[in-house]
Amino acid sequence: MIIDLKNIYKEYDELEVLKNINLYIRKNEFLTLLGPSGCGKTTTLRIIGGFEQPTIGEVVFEGKNITDIPPYERQINTVFQKYALFPHMNVFENIAFGLKIKKIPKLEIKERVENILKTINLVGFENRSIDSLSGGQQQRVAIARALVNKPKVLLLDEPLGALDLKLRKEMQMELKNMQKSLGITFIYVTHDQEEALTMSDTIAVMDNGEIQQIGTPVDIYNEPKNAFVAKFIGESNIIDGIMHKDFIVEFENIIFDCVDSGFEENEEIDVVIRPEDLVIEKSDEAKLKGKVTSVTFKGVHYEILVESENFLWKVHSTNMTPVGTLVGLSVLPENIHVMKKVR
Ligand SMILES: Nc1ncnc2c1ncn2[C@@H]1O[C@H](COP(=O)(O)OP(=O)(O)O)[C@@H](O)[C@H]1O
Ligand SMILES: [Mg+2]
Repeated sequence: MIIDLKNIYKEYDELEVLKNINLYIRKNEFLTLLGPSGCGKTTTLRIIGGFEQPTIGEVVFEGKNITDIPPYERQINTVFQKYALFPHMNVFENIAFGLKIKKIPKLEIKERVENILKTINLVGFENRSIDSLSGGQQQRVAIARALVNKPKVLLLDEPLGALDLKLRKEMQMELKNMQKSLGITFIYVTHDQEEALTMSDTIAVMDNGEIQQIGTPVDIYNEPKNAFVAKFIGESNIIDGIMHKDFIVEFENIIFDCVDSGFEENEEIDVVIRPEDLVIEKSDEAKLKGKVTSVTFKGVHYEILVESENFLWKVHSTNMTPVGTLVGLSVLPENIHVMKKVR
């Protein structure tokens, strides 16, 4: 374990923005803080970087309490949301800046900057002015400026947010490869679930100043812990239900077998079913029935909306079913996810 956040609370003028954050990060892990805008991601990152003090709680780095250590004494570097490059310096000077301050010998600075330019694919750009670079290239320089300090941990706050989709996808892969080859721990912040799912070893989903779930991308996608996580990670049908007893759930006034247990008898719960897990059948072949109200081609699949008694189901299917068709919907027991109601 390289970083351990212990019982972190943060208040700004009596507004509680972080409520009991407990999170550890392993060495060489790519961990992502994922959540909607305002949920406390940047604040968490700033506390790890030392730019902000927690109101209560401890930041532990390699076993030592560093809560009161200033940012420049931590072996942690940050790539901020706004890259904040020095516009009057060229690429070399921007990357070398931190090393100069640390009074590293000139020859070593030159060597380190050149090495890092290789890593980020900007060899030959040493003398270019910042203005002459594209957004993607500026972002690379910002990353190089952090990496050249050989930090043990790199914090990245929505670093690809300003880039267009195609470039963002490319940079996602590059960052991931860089992280693996350099062997640096990355703590990454994004509100983009797809980005989090493709890049991370571990995702911490945040909402409202709290961590809702920590797990691998596969865990979080397949076994979301509550309706918030399910909704935030990918598309879902979320419907009220009642857990009659272990392995028996009711929704839409129909009883289904499921694989969940450990709820109270007749507990009110949320049922989550992914659109790709609903299968359209002939209307007399399934318990759940409805009428197709809309069909949209999405490139890989059709998104078909089916209205049942009290619910509008989103279904993904490679087969098209015309609007107005009466259909049955079936779902395997293991694809019915039963979740405790939040609050
Ligand atoms: N310096 C500050 N003073 C007062 N409130 C702040 C400050 N920084 C952040 N906040 C508030 O804390 C909450 C979490 O913000 P932030 O960590 O930036 O969220 P995120 O990065 O997830 O969008 C927000 O409600 C924000 O308005
Ligand atoms: Mg933020």
